[in-house]
Amino acid sequence: MWIEILLFFAACFLLLYRYITKSFGRWEKEGIPTLPGTFPYGSHAEILTQSRHMNDVFKEDYEKLKDSPVVGAYMLGKPVLYINDMELIKTIMVKDFNHFMDRDDSNMTNAMAGGDIDKYWHTQMTTLSGEAWKEVRSTFTPIFTSGKMKAMMQFITEVGNSMVKELERLADAEEDFEFKSVTGKFSLDSIATCAFGFNPNSYEDKDNSFVKNAAPIFQSDSMFDMLLFTRFIPLGSWIHKKLGLNIMRPKQTKFFVDIIRQALKHRRESGEKRNDLIDMMIECMKNQDESRSDGKKQMDEDTLISTAFVMLVAGYDTTGMTLSYLAFYLSTNPEVQAKLQVEIDEAFAENDGKLPDYNTILSLPYLDMVIQETLRFVSPIGGLTRACTKPYTIPGTNIHLKEDDVVIIPISGIHQDPNYYPNPEKFNPENFSKEAKASRSPYTFQAFGQGPRGCIGMRFAMLEVKLAACEILNKFTILPSAKTPEKQICDPGHDLGYFLGGLWGKVQRR
Ligand code: HEM
Repeated sequence: MWIEILLFFAACFLLLYRYITKSFGRWEKEGIPTLPGTFPYGSHAEILTQSRHMNDVFKEDYEKLKDSPVVGAYMLGKPVLYINDMELIKTIMVKDFNHFMDRDDSNMTNAMAGGDIDKYWHTQMTTLSGEAWKEVRSTFTPIFTSGKMKAMMQFITEVGNSMVKELERLADAEEDFEFKSVTGKFSLDSIATCAFGFNPNSYEDKDNSFVKNAAPIFQSDSMFDMLLFTRFIPLGSWIHKKLGLNIMRPKQTKFFVDIIRQALKHRRESGEKRNDLIDMMIECMKNQDESRSDGKKQMDEDTLISTAFVMLVAGYDTTGMTLSYLAFYLSTNPEVQAKLQVEIDEAFAENDGKLPDYNTILSLPYLDMVIQETLRFVSPIGGLTRACTKPYTIPGTNIHLKEDDVVIIPISGIHQDPNYYPNPEKFNPENFSKEAKASRSPYTFQAFGQGPRGCIGMRFAMLEVKLAACEILNKFTILPSAKTPEKQICDPGHDLGYFLGGLWGKVQRR
């Protein structure tokens, strides 16, 4: 009996060993500079040990071999190709996009599938592939036009007013605070009121269940990692699907799915219109169905729910973090803050002391430069992927990519490359002056990605961040705090790039 058990485990180990190592050496054979793979983790032990954040790994990998236009590596057993050359990046993201339409390979996409709750992750715009992605992306693209965002600005402004009240309280108490504890509420309430039709009032209602459920959406733990890992081994995701297992933060996902479903039901039954993202999504789906000649309904309620849910998943923490980095770099670069305050004060003065209008906020030049520099300095997402969807030969080389091969754009490395950004360790908004931008490829800035698969919410995010910055800097000066750890190290337990110990500061009324 024990012998059989031992043999069974030995056979499983051998199978796993073979599965992981079978592609090792592929890039080396093609003469590509490569970060060699080792069983069981490939080129990066950090993936299994969670000892370093992927944003830091991408940066270090880029620095090691950045002079080579492509660099091979292995993620677990998967051969991946880093793309370091700007022309090649442009070719993959834009020119030859029809070969790289998908973000994830089939393993990764399947890893999102499981039971009835996990399906909302599997069918999100970020995960969808091929024609299904195209359909969803083109249906919902019109919700981010200027006219529609202008209509939504009133909701974001209401949230901004609550944030100002909270900052007034903190200023009067002369209290140090972790920036994201304030900016995260702003981004959560903004996206919730726009995409879910419901303002959780996070500043007033500290025990709100909306806030409690949003916080863990990006937080990993070892149980989650282990379960996710089992979906990458042969038959793993098939077994999960058969058993109907939900591992993608099912409690929180169900909570949000139920809220969106109720909001939809309410809109349909009451006929109420609020001109928010939910209304616009309902509208987009109606237009899509009406324009179809076959009379079939293309999208169901679940597609809409997944899309509203992805707005929260993709838009909440990214924007809250960006605002938090912005507050931190302004607090530590007072001369930049003072210059920005002059620009913002003038815009308020020209509007009789009131918040400037949509067009003015979006066109303040120095504010735009400061936010771009913030996202260059540190981006929530430090690397992008594209999966090859049709066999492809990298132009000017003999490197052949097969369907399902993955390429990586190492954002965190490119953003710190002195060839593009002189003195990259210095926070310098002049990196985004007209002249500086004209002197380098636009593909050197990738905080929102690029091309048809780039961030669909970029304009919405920029509106949120700019509006919040105007509200804050017109009324307060942001000061640094000794509570911020001296060195900023990305938290490996967080999917996005945020720092261990947080970013602290305080505000002073002006
Ligand atoms: C400062 C805030 C944000 C940052 C830094 C950010 C960054 C990104 C990046 C890097 C990508 C991948 C792009 C690529 O692969 O080329 C992405 C995709 C995406 N983002 Fe954002 N994002 C932000 C805010 C938002 C907001 C507010 C929303 C929604 C309201 C949103 C919705 C999405 C969606 C749906 C995708 C997937 C697009 C697709 O696959 O077609 N993002 N974002």
